[in-house]
Amino acid sequence: MNAAFRFDDWDTPATPVAVAPEKPAKTEVDRNQPTRLAPINAADKRIVNGQADINQLAPFKYPWAWEFFLKANRNHWTPLEISMAQDVHDYHHKLTSAERHVFENVLAYLTTSDILAMRNIGLAVMEKMSAPELQIYQARQVYEEALHTWTYQHCIESLGLDQQEIYNRYRVVPAIHGKIALANRRLEKVLRSDFDLTDRANLHEFALSYFFFAVIFEGCWFYNGFTPVFALQRRGLMKGAAEQLQYIMRDEVLHCAFGIRVVRELLKEEDMTLDPQALRQLWDEAEAAETAYAAFILRDPILGYNAELHVQQFRFIANRRARQVGVEEPFPGAENVLPWLDEQANLRKEKNFFETRVTEYQTGGALAWE
Ligand SMILES: [Fe+2]
Ligand SMILES: [Fe+2]
Repeated sequence: MNAAFRFDDWDTPATPVAVAPEKPAKTEVDRNQPTRLAPINAADKRIVNGQADINQLAPFKYPWAWEFFLKANRNHWTPLEISMAQDVHDYHHKLTSAERHVFENVLAYLTTSDILAMRNIGLAVMEKMSAPELQIYQARQVYEEALHTWTYQHCIESLGLDQQEIYNRYRVVPAIHGKIALANRRLEKVLRSDFDLTDRANLHEFALSYFFFAVIFEGCWFYNGFTPVFALQRRGLMKGAAEQLQYIMRDEVLHCAFGIRVVRELLKEEDMTLDPQALRQLWDEAEAAETAYAAFILRDPILGYNAELHVQQFRFIANRRARQVGVEEPFPGAENVLPWLDEQANLRKEKNFFETRVTEYQTGGALAWE
């Protein structure tokens, strides 16, 4: 039997360390002195560069952001609730070498991407938001990106994959590195805390970077990135891992929807439009990176799925995202070659693995946002 866990002693140093009492800083204003501040107006809040008190949640200026937070909290789950037992058997005894290649590389790409997503939202975007209702949803998003990383790690551990090898793939495989490097390049500048958003050119770059992150990285690459594993799931293979990815996908749909709303509101509030040429370059770079990635992970097609389908579906989803933001479709005429993909995003919980809880996942219908 395990000893009872004690919250108070898990990090207590063996020898108590003497800490000198902190001297109050000598400033002209005594911070300990009560001060009377003027109340603020919710209407003064702004998405970025706001001067209103960041610690005052309500009244809301952006009630939709609070709604996103409430909606995200109705989707709670952890990877431990989904059995991976059959997947272990499938991976070792049923998958062909081409299918194992696809599965492992999708996992390697996704796990690196989710760490990058967590860092971008937590370290770059959140600090630049100046309304607390926006930051609160993003705090939840940071947690969800960490949860996704845990999920991939849980899959990697369950299947007994070589962690040193899997986690290094994005570095040693150029086709995976291409997507990560593009994301790093797009986000590098705005990650800096001294990036001055009162400068209009910088503000445009920030809006473009956020567009890249929410619309392309999350809304297209992630959305489309789970598909090869869903193709296995449709043939009864790797169903535990695929179910995990379905829950991740549902989170990502919300992340993308929130990001698109932020970009739209930001552009309206700042009376700004995204430069069409810069957008074109973004789409072209994203398509080129996705095409190289698809050619690598699907160098040998698997039953019911191939590189061409993957890229066509990327273009179709990209058009949808562009419409949602209100910009020109980048790939006119792209067809929905995988109509079953949207069904995966609108997951309806069929089995009750929360038997011991009253929690139910919300239904797919409530998540429809197009
Ligand atoms: Fe994620
Ligand atoms: Fe995300």
